[in-house]
Amino acid sequence: MINWKAKVAAAMLVTLAVPAFAEGDAAKGEKIFKKCKACHAVGDDAKNKVGPILNGIVGAPAGANPDFKYSDALKEAAAGGLVWDEANLAAFLTKPKDFMKGTKMSFAGLRKESEIADVTAYLATFQ
Ligand code: HEC
Repeated sequence: MINWKAKVAAAMLVTLAVPAFAEGDAAKGEKIFKKCKACHAVGDDAKNKVGPILNGIVGAPAGANPDFKYSDALKEAAAGGLVWDEANLAAFLTKPKDFMKGTKMSFAGLRKESEIADVTAYLATFQ
């Protein structure tokens, strides 16, 4: 059986092969990530908070963190094969509750496309 880390690693390789994230500015994304920090952590000593750790999330299958209690909505989406590629992340971050009815991510959304591109570029720097 392939474990989730292997799946994430495989998804990341695919991500790295796609240069799309070069469009976002990771430095600006770090500032935008402040809006996420109440609930999410990234980096070496990141821990799950209200939301799951987001290391390696770009290009990863949804709901892959074994230590986080996801909503049924997210579990169903994960079972259906949802992957956090650039398009799905952008749709989710624009309006989480529209993209995924029933998600427990209580976040209104990022309004600007550039903010989403930047925060995605920032997240892509965490493996
Ligand atoms: C108020 C808390 C909160 C804020 C603010 C928040 N999130 Fe979340 N996020 C959550 C929760 C809770 C979940 C789990 C959702 C579920 O299980 O339905 C989640 C899930 C996610 C997921 C899916 C993770 C996975 O393992 O599949 C991503 C990606 C994500 N958030 C990104 C972000 C980003 C980027 C921001 C900032 C722009 C942000 N979130 C802001 C609480 C938050």
